[in-house]
Amino acid sequence: MTRLTMDTGSYVDVPKDLLKEIERLEQLFSTDTAKLKQITEHFVKELEKGLSVQGGSIPMNPTWVMSFPTGYETGTYLALDMGGTNLRVCQITLTEQKSEFDIIQSKYRLPEELKTGEADDLFEYIADCLMQFIETHHGDTGRLEKLPLGFTFSYPATQNYIDEGILQRWTKGFDIPGVEGHNVVPMFEAALARRGVPIKLTALINDTTGTLIASAYTDTKMKIGCIFGTGCNAAYMEDCGSIPKLAHLGLPPDTPMAINCEWGAFDNEHKVLPRTPYDIIIDKDSPRPGQQAFEKMIAGLYLGEIFRQIMVDLHDNHDVHIFEGQDISALRKAYSLDSSFLSAIEEDPFENLSETADLFQTKLGIHPNTHELELIRRTAELIGTRAARLSACGVAAISKKKGYTSCHVGADGSVFNKYPHFKARGAQALREILDWPEKTDPKEEDPIEILAAEDGSGVGAALIAALTLERVKKGNMHGILHPENFR
Ligand code: GLC
Repeated sequence: MTRLTMDTGSYVDVPKDLLKEIERLEQLFSTDTAKLKQITEHFVKELEKGLSVQGGSIPMNPTWVMSFPTGYETGTYLALDMGGTNLRVCQITLTEQKSEFDIIQSKYRLPEELKTGEADDLFEYIADCLMQFIETHHGDTGRLEKLPLGFTFSYPATQNYIDEGILQRWTKGFDIPGVEGHNVVPMFEAALARRGVPIKLTALINDTTGTLIASAYTDTKMKIGCIFGTGCNAAYMEDCGSIPKLAHLGLPPDTPMAINCEWGAFDNEHKVLPRTPYDIIIDKDSPRPGQQAFEKMIAGLYLGEIFRQIMVDLHDNHDVHIFEGQDISALRKAYSLDSSFLSAIEEDPFENLSETADLFQTKLGIHPNTHELELIRRTAELIGTRAARLSACGVAAISKKKGYTSCHVGADGSVFNKYPHFKARGAQALREILDWPEKTDPKEEDPIEILAAEDGSGVGAALIAALTLERVKKGNMHGILHPENFR
């Protein structure tokens, strides 16, 4: 079996003060089965609240994606992904072969200063990247027919239409004034027009919806799409009859509608999540205090910061002797450690944690002793384990709400793909929450299996553009603001 946590028996020589801290942290970060079940129960209620007319703290945004793909979609589409760190532009051709596609793509760095600058600068930069992509792959743009584009905008946005997105609030460290509460599509389209980019926006999508649809394109058992990356969120297919806040539209109750949960906002009221003093500081110092409570315990943006807060706190605590007499100024810099720093600690294969020691030395100018290294490793494990176990509560809650006892969940994002043991820890938590018996054969599939997703913001965005064009062709105009873009 994979070793998911350190064997506590190995702390025999650790000095008392450090041992006491390890035990305190273990208490603070523990998420036992009963707690996970309690969180999941509350989560189910909050998902329902979000769909109701009154609404709740989880936005549960309808996305106007109104069917799963069949695998027989065809055509060529552009896809643009504005993530937290990069811009990615793709051209996707859905081929005649069932569930197959060709893709070409380019990545552009998203300069850090654009994340807190002016909206126009951001959208013009994006338009320039798109233009460069089209010129590279299509040559002269003068005579080109406008290409349909699926734009993956992975921030909470109300979508009264599939080609509209009113930003509810920035997440993932973005803080551009004048965008919250506004529709981002006209800002984007104005930039395209100013730059003469031959593109028509067909669908604005969230990365989770893209992940759900892309994964379902190749695997019909896929029912939930999740992102565990810089942010953390999920999407699934609901029936319109279970979405009271859409009742005024009079859609047939069995009409499917993909919901972008925006579950990062779960428990903003702090009713069930086991918050530590470190979570409270992170929230207080963030650009949006009081928001994204769940996300702040799970997402890659925060894992390294939680760890950093703990280390600084222990150093400053006079009852604890850690990094004594050393200059920890590098460690004092907020957000200086990202989740890859924690990954590296958890991945250190050596008994004496020599790689962790090297990492502290090169990155922070700190020389931890043997016992400090053990505390460091255990702290990383606790943070990583809590993140994986809490994330399973969200998956369990959607499954319970929908009555899924067996399905696949498509997951993407740097934490899911790269953080050591994240998958195994999440699967273990799901087993505990849903009371599955232990496996008899290790190769056996779990009833609900979280698997690596297909490319949501590329293939998923293209598919959603295709599905939307197709339903418009059949006369389903629900949630379409600009029919002219669909002809
Ligand atoms: C944040 C965003 C959300 C996105 C998630 C994963 O939670 O608000 O829209 O899906 O990150 O990228």
